[in-house]
Amino acid sequence: MRGVILAGGMGTRLLPATLITNKHLLLVYKKLMIEYPLQTLLDIGIKNIIIVSGGNNIGDIANVLGSGKKYNARFTYVVQDEPLGIAHAVSLTTDFLNNEPFVVILGDNYFEDNISNFIDTKNFNSGSIIFLKEVPDPQRFGCPGFINGKISIIEEKPKEPKSNYAVTGLYFYDNTYIDKFKTLKPSGRGEYEITDINSLYLKEGKLNHTILKGLWSDMGVHDTLLHVANFVKEKETK
Ligand code: TTP
Repeated sequence: MRGVILAGGMGTRLLPATLITNKHLLLVYKKLMIEYPLQTLLDIGIKNIIIVSGGNNIGDIANVLGSGKKYNARFTYVVQDEPLGIAHAVSLTTDFLNNEPFVVILGDNYFEDNISNFIDTKNFNSGSIIFLKEVPDPQRFGCPGFINGKISIIEEKPKEPKSNYAVTGLYFYDNTYIDKFKTLKPSGRGEYEITDINSLYLKEGKLNHTILKGLWSDMGVHDTLLHVANFVKEKETK
């Protein structure tokens, strides 16, 4: 199975650091931000990985990460000319994906869990899997509602969340992704939303979910970056 790491976007919430470099190259304790989601993919045996970023940044990222050799992996790079959303960034990787199932991770997400404890990636070939985490502020994220333990709806940044769960930045999709993407329209904020893709899988009864146990956090605002840095430091010194 191939993997996609998304490292585009504007990084406005980490200004002024993102005046100097792409958000995903910032240091989070002893590693670069992007090396955490990279490790999450490597831990589930994904070695053939495409990295998406904006035209101004892709060169810097490629300079730092290289061919993938030092991670015992193989990296490919693709440019997203404009930050038109997560679903759009994924759509740019279609040729690389070779019509096979794949996994997407956001380049600013930290997962403490080893995902192979939850699913057998080798046997994933149909539908989609998303990963949920209970959070104090679900209105900041894609947020599911449930009926009898099954997801009945996913709403993007709802004012009145239907649960305390966030949809985290790790997604498994089958090869119907691109057909679904072609039916999407940009949202009110002008982005192609991954929540709309997930809602299409849900409509077909093909959206599966797992609830994470360990820490999950983005690193995209000053407080969460600091929190993850401190968490990793404590874990390493234990
Ligand atoms: P966001 O945090 O939603 O956006 P951002 O990175 O532009 O940050 P800010 O809101 O502070 O300006 O992005 C989540 C992740 O998705 C992040 O790792 C970057 C990635 N992304 C893309 O690769 N392409 C895109 O078009 C967008 C919107 C995000």
